[in-house]
Amino acid sequence: MKRVFSGVRPTGRLHLGNYLGAVKNYVALQDDYECIYCVVDIHALTTLEETDALKENIYEMMLDLLASGLDPKKCILFVQSQVPEINELFTLFGMITPLSWLLRVPTFKEKVRMHPDNVNYGLVGYPVLQAADISLYKADLVPVGVDQLPHLELTREIVRRFNEKFGDTFPEAQARLTNFPTVVGLDGKDKMSKSLNNHIELALSEEETAKKVMSAVTDPARQYKTDPGHPDICNVYKLHNYFSPQAVAQIADDCRNARIGCVQCKRALAEAINVYLRPIRAKRSKLAENPDEIYRIMADGAERAGAIARETIDEVRRKMNL
Ligand code: ADP
Ligand code: NA
Repeated sequence: MKRVFSGVRPTGRLHLGNYLGAVKNYVALQDDYECIYCVVDIHALTTLEETDALKENIYEMMLDLLASGLDPKKCILFVQSQVPEINELFTLFGMITPLSWLLRVPTFKEKVRMHPDNVNYGLVGYPVLQAADISLYKADLVPVGVDQLPHLELTREIVRRFNEKFGDTFPEAQARLTNFPTVVGLDGKDKMSKSLNNHIELALSEEETAKKVMSAVTDPARQYKTDPGHPDICNVYKLHNYFSPQAVAQIADDCRNARIGCVQCKRALAEAINVYLRPIRAKRSKLAENPDEIYRIMADGAERAGAIARETIDEVRRKMNL
């Protein structure tokens, strides 16, 4: 059976970008593939100044993933650092990855721009760690958002190089995108993201969600309700496409003809998002009543992932003559 691997960083709670761009596919693939999903805490360290909130964030992320529909009976769900074999494959992959490949990665350049005073050795190695994650579990498919495609290309290059040098060992993993692979930010920026604070967390209350949505920017050329709007350049409209499939054609028409204003349009979006998230939020509250069960799921996941990881590491050591 084909294997699926993906990971999400515990840098805060899951937002709609993560959910629609990636996690929805984590859930969808569970029935047909052997799926391995990981809260990648070591990846999070590449940009963290301190680790005080790390344990809490891992726990919250587990709640989010389980509430979103991951089922430990159908997939392996674990925390990256709890399977230490990852560190060995990361080190070994580091020996076959040219630095020039890493320096040209767009997300690296972006992070250097955003945090020029925290460009550590681990940060430039981020895609190597990712390649090691995917390869440790010999994954064929990786559900991710569009922003991760350059990393996956690099994973394939590293794997190809390993296979050429040491013999066929790892599959060249392919990305699996959702039908909504890039979720725009509430501020109109092309990516919803925690670091831009233009996101909506799954775990927000309905009131908080409405407040966030009401703060969204819309068509900047539209000042008054009587001005005709341009849905094609409006991020609220883009989100309606997903959350209001029945109403979206009418909304576009009403906007173009100035029959609805942005406030009304945003109110409708907030309501649609809240309706959509209601079952996920209810499940999350229920899960949060029993933290021991969450820790049990983590431990069980680490044990099952660890068994696969040790097999791969044994094979790698044999092939590399270690
Ligand atoms: P973040 O980008 O919020 O820090 P991660 O880097 O941990 O979160 O990404 C987790 C997954 O969510 C990745 O597969 C990524 O591609 C996806 N993702 C994140 N933001 C978006 C977005 N705005 N649109 C689509 N997918 C996204
Ligand atoms: Na990302």
